Amino acid sequence: MAIREVLKIGAPELFAVSRPVEEFNSPELKSLIQDLIDTAKHENGLGIAAPQIGVNLRVIYFGFEYSPRYPDAKPVPETVLINPEFEVLTDEQSDYEEGCLSVPNYRTMVTRYTHIRYWGYDQQGNRFESQARDMHARAVLHEIDHLDGILFPMRAAFTRMSK
Ligand code: NI
Repeated sequence: MAIREVLKIGAPELFAVSRPVEEFNSPELKSLIQDLIDTAKHENGLGIAAPQIGVNLRVIYFGFEYSPRYPDAKPVPETVLINPEFEVLTDEQSDYEEGCLSVPNYRTMVTRYTHIRYWGYDQQGNRFESQARDMHARAVLHEIDHLDGILFPMRAAFTRMSK
């Protein structure tokens, strides 16, 4: 078990495009995944992506029963997802005030699609797929964004200035 330091906005690893995992079932991958889980749970995150602990590989973890950081969020099944991909299954989008362990003390509205299909691999290299709606979809999309160097403020919909 290892709780790792979470990199904060400004760290170059957070803006990089991460590379796919090529070797599954390795001790390095296993310990990376355990560190992601331990760190996310310790920080009460809804999810975490490998670049947030300084590893630019396409590995994400998301899911929670209850998070004091987001008391209103409905539970999302705990999932480790490697080399994830997704497609959008709806035209509908919703707004939610997002935060991120890498962006301390800041939240803002982000608009995202409400229904997706996603797929990828588990630690052993088995492909699996699932569908997600609402908060579950949002968590998957937020974490996949991290793998492409995107932090949620870069997706925020700001309102126009008014006099
Ligand atoms: Ni995040």
